[in-house]
Amino acid sequence: MSLDYSNSQLILDTSDHPQGSVTWRSPSNLAIIKYWGKHGRQLPRNPSISLTLDAAHTTTTLHYHRREETTTQGISLDLFFEGEPAPAFADRIKRYLESIGDIYPFLRQLHLTIHTENSFPHSSGIASSASAMSALALCLCSLERHFFDTLEEEQAFLTKASYLARLASGSAARSVFPFMSAWGRHGDIAGSSDEYGVPYASFLHPSITTMRNAILIVSSGTKSVSSTAGHALMETHLYATTRYMQAGQRMSQLLPALQHGDWDLFGQIAENEALTLHALMMASNPSYLLMKPMSLQLIDSIRKFRADTGLPVYFSLDAGPNLHVLYPESHAAEIEAFLKADCIPFCEKETWIADRAGAGPKEIFN
Ligand code: PMV
Repeated sequence: MSLDYSNSQLILDTSDHPQGSVTWRSPSNLAIIKYWGKHGRQLPRNPSISLTLDAAHTTTTLHYHRREETTTQGISLDLFFEGEPAPAFADRIKRYLESIGDIYPFLRQLHLTIHTENSFPHSSGIASSASAMSALALCLCSLERHFFDTLEEEQAFLTKASYLARLASGSAARSVFPFMSAWGRHGDIAGSSDEYGVPYASFLHPSITTMRNAILIVSSGTKSVSSTAGHALMETHLYATTRYMQAGQRMSQLLPALQHGDWDLFGQIAENEALTLHALMMASNPSYLLMKPMSLQLIDSIRKFRADTGLPVYFSLDAGPNLHVLYPESHAAEIEAFLKADCIPFCEKETWIADRAGAGPKEIFN
């Protein structure tokens, strides 16, 4: 079912002069089946599913007050990232808020001030768009609920937040749900949609909902390809059609592994998806090499440790050089001892983030 959220009724009365703020903390996510390739208004070419993280999150406060009756004007916004004005980010957010004027016409009646900060170090090489854009979308839905008494049901609230997050950054659609979320239509996931993410937590084996994710920082430099440019490469990629088919088939293989806690199969798919994403970029025109030599050395170490010990430890990658090491909580002690001895000393400034599957976003009341 296609959703149409355009609503010219969501407009404040002339007598309404609201003033206040709303705050959400929202996590980043790590795709296990990767979304790579889009069309139309941020619609995915293939279904994806991700692990909702916990420690890596963004906290966003949106302050608002009524401006003069100027509904024909654009968005009025000040934005501060980690306490400092951030003009480039402000421009991006302004364009986004203007682009959803049909959904939230009331935004033009307000002056908005956004304060946003990440839990992970700035320039750690951790992608922040999923956490940042989902936190913002959740703040917007809170405003709607507050002003118009709508979105009272949690499911309706989160579905709309996921839809709005998607319009800002595709992968952000999956950050609003606990533990795991799927985005993109797939026959094995009832209710799945290209327009918004759906929760997948209730189907998961306990060893999956308690999964650990150690993020090893290989390089904190900015990416040499933006995700917008990366998705665009798929439009003319020789392997595109096969890749989209593969993602759907892998989803069918992965879902039972998530339900039964089949770590062998889960790990095999997670690693292959990460390498497939990088292989697609390497084989595109222009070609991008986003791993560093150290990424490969760490992959080798992890695979060797797994072969030597038989322990379930696997890796994934985002569109960058940093490694996400995935393992069950039950083996955290042995695996983290290995990481500390054999991997973390090779990370940039020995930086790593001890993350895990997380319970999803949280509204913060001051
Ligand atoms: O949400 P975007 O447009 O930044 O795309 C993100 C794509 C990957 O992170 C590489 C994969 C994914 O599914 O999250």
